[in-house]
Amino acid sequence: MKTVTLKLNSGSHDVIVGPGLLAESGYHLKGLGLKGKLAIITDATVRKLYANALKQTLLASGFEVTILNGPDSEEEKSLETAGRLYLELTDMHAERSTPVLAVGGGVIGDLAGFVAATYQRGVPLVQIPTTLLAQADSSLGGKTAVNHGSLKNRIGVFYQPRLTISDTNTLKSLTKEQLSEGLCEIIKHGAIRDGELFDYIESNLDRIMDCDDEALETIVHRSVKIKAEVVEQDEFDLGLRNILNYGHTVGHAVETVSDFQVPHGRAVAIGMVVAAEISNRMGLLNKNDVARIEELLTQAGLLGKVPKIERDRLIEAMHHDKKIVGGKIRFVLLKTIGEVTVTDDVSLDLVEKVLSEKL
Ligand SMILES: NC(=O)c1ccc[n+]([C@@H]2O[C@H](COP(=O)([O-])OP(=O)(O)OC[C@H]3O[C@@H](n4cnc5c(N)ncnc54)[C@H](O)[C@@H]3O)[C@@H](O)[C@H]2O)c1
Ligand SMILES: [Zn+2]
Repeated sequence: MKTVTLKLNSGSHDVIVGPGLLAESGYHLKGLGLKGKLAIITDATVRKLYANALKQTLLASGFEVTILNGPDSEEEKSLETAGRLYLELTDMHAERSTPVLAVGGGVIGDLAGFVAATYQRGVPLVQIPTTLLAQADSSLGGKTAVNHGSLKNRIGVFYQPRLTISDTNTLKSLTKEQLSEGLCEIIKHGAIRDGELFDYIESNLDRIMDCDDEALETIVHRSVKIKAEVVEQDEFDLGLRNILNYGHTVGHAVETVSDFQVPHGRAVAIGMVVAAEISNRMGLLNKNDVARIEELLTQAGLLGKVPKIERDRLIEAMHHDKKIVGGKIRFVLLKTIGEVTVTDDVSLDLVEKVLSEKL
């Protein structure tokens, strides 16, 4: 087991990572001084796979456990679902001291986090992420969110968990596609801040995709460490956290233009390649590093099989995102693998040129 402690103005908490941690959850919760009643918020898939077993271990540790059904999809990550859960928490006589355990992927983490932050103005939250994306990225940083109509992730609050338990054994039931989605953000973390992590993924990709215990623990732990360092310096997303958007300027546009047919990780992978190429054209990143990024994302199953995307519509989407000012656009660029810079000075002409070559 590996531990990362996030030291934040709103308090500190641990993120523990390793195989088999679900079975120790009762022990870790008691260690926080939690006791009595608690609520697990999960989805139908994770409920069957893990939440029922988790309930048994928590019962054995003396907790009184209620499982509540959270959103089963992005569409259900809504205010309506949150509203239903407030009523269900009330039905189970949840109090301000009653912990909410968010057990699932990013959809569950975001919504259960939001519910925990707002029910009775905040009850203790424990994140138990079960996808690679959630363990390596979305469960960290305290951003909770729901969607509302066309507002995606626009309704939410910053709310930190008391503890995050990332049992890497849960990743073994994910599909290769789901693993790749999470790996995308880990490769991103390596590219912006940890060249050694990037090297490690290059050398151990087969072990990672085969869910080798040590490989999963290593990449999740290092990814958590990188995001934790960034979040500690920019708890409320006012500056440094911007570097986490590497690949996301073009990535978000690809998602939008494809009407979300291209999944987030694949869209961001395209964005990372485009941003790496732009970095090279602006004299920052060498050709060899650009090629390594493209090769690793390809090997990880994140490039290729992309529907034809019209360049004009991509630029239009970036305009819409208000990312373009005076013919220039903000980009997170790489200086080398492991070092990043943010600039407002990328010309739209260069972006169009690179898009036309890469798409
Ligand atoms: N808060 C943040 O900072 C942040 C950052 C990035 C993404 N997000 C959010 O995260 C969400 C995406 O998260 P995601 O990629 O985890 O998707 P998800 O939560 O939709 O999970 C994907 C699917 O995997 C299933 N699943 C979960 N764990 C499983 C397991 N161990 N084995 C088998 N199946 C399992 C789920 O039932 C679901 O069908 C989006 O809503 C996005 O907005 C939030
Ligand atoms: Zn992302």
